[in-house]
Amino acid sequence: GRYAVIMAGGKGERFWPLSTSKHPKQLLALVGDKPLIAQAVDRLDGIVPPENVFVVTNAELVDATREAAPQLPPENIVGEPIGRDTAAAVACGGALVKAKDENGVFAVLTADQVMGDLDIFSATIKGGMDLAEQNDILVTIGIEPVSPSTGFGYIESGETFQIQENVEFRKAVRFVEKPDEATAAEYVASGKFYWNSGMFIWSVASLEKAFGAHCPEMLELMDTLAGFAKDGKIVEGMDATYPDLGKISIDYALMEKAANIMMACGTFAWDDVGSWPALEGHFDQDGNGNTKIGIVETLDASGNIVLSKDRLTAVIGVKDLVVVQAEGVTLVCPKDRAQDIKQMVVALREKG
Ligand code: GDD
Ligand code: MG
Repeated sequence: GRYAVIMAGGKGERFWPLSTSKHPKQLLALVGDKPLIAQAVDRLDGIVPPENVFVVTNAELVDATREAAPQLPPENIVGEPIGRDTAAAVACGGALVKAKDENGVFAVLTADQVMGDLDIFSATIKGGMDLAEQNDILVTIGIEPVSPSTGFGYIESGETFQIQENVEFRKAVRFVEKPDEATAAEYVASGKFYWNSGMFIWSVASLEKAFGAHCPEMLELMDTLAGFAKDGKIVEGMDATYPDLGKISIDYALMEKAANIMMACGTFAWDDVGSWPALEGHFDQDGNGNTKIGIVETLDASGNIVLSKDRLTAVIGVKDLVVVQAEGVTLVCPKDRAQDIKQMVVALREKG
């Protein structure tokens, strides 16, 4: 059968103060009218039945995630005792699938991206599942790059492998996780490279084979957790195994190393929405380029992003700032310093 594993382990740092560790990005209706995790579940309509959709999140967020995604059986939402990055989350999701269906094929999806053209998204996932059922391959979804971002993995695409559901699948020549800016610029200029969307499709068997070849620790984890999952006790299994695991992402653990990767040319709208300035692409601006969300007034101000949740925020004579009033906190910072918000969150956490 066909399954999906949604990875939802966000730490809620980049959209602070709106997002917090108890209420990270995927639980917010940052764009659209539902929490991003609920949108991620809705996108699977017609592809995977709800009982075959699993969400792997942190233990702290299980209740809130169950509330945000009531379409799913509550037991399909499982919490990791500690975050060990995405390789472990994939192994955990793989174990849940394997316990139900050793011949299963599943998509690994993210909880906190914003997507459009959902018919094309759906065709891309279905086409990838068709291919993963018929071949021993790892399928990744590439997105045409629009800038030399260093926050993404890059896939060098080769010759066409197959067209399925009107989606082109190409051989992946190489996978490079988060190159430096000069390298990323070369990649984008070459026209051959795609951004890695962070979404993957494979069969239980192909994942196990690839884990076995490139990171046996994850094969062992998946196997152990599948045993626990068969008894409905995956959480106990995670509690027993996670403390001893190293942190590694699926991109470094597997995708950079494997040779049998096929890349879908993803042509649906896709945005990782990684920081406050990224919201500009999802909201209308006023005549002066201000993005105003909530209760906001501006005068002689331009290029600002202002979000004010439950009281008026007024902004006069400033430009290119992020101003956020939410959860009893006010944040003011230049747009080009938005990446430093993380640093502030960490510092505040240390202060207690
Ligand atoms: N359950 C769980 N546990 N989920 C996790 C964990 C974890 O420890 N760590 C991350 N996730 C989830 C995040 O919530 C997100 O949905 C997804 O896995 C990807 O993790 P990120 O931390 O956002 O990864 P990234 O943005 O640095 O890089 C990945 O995504 C890019 C596209 O957005 C990579 O796959 C890149 O290659 C890719 O370009
Ligand atoms: Mg990300």
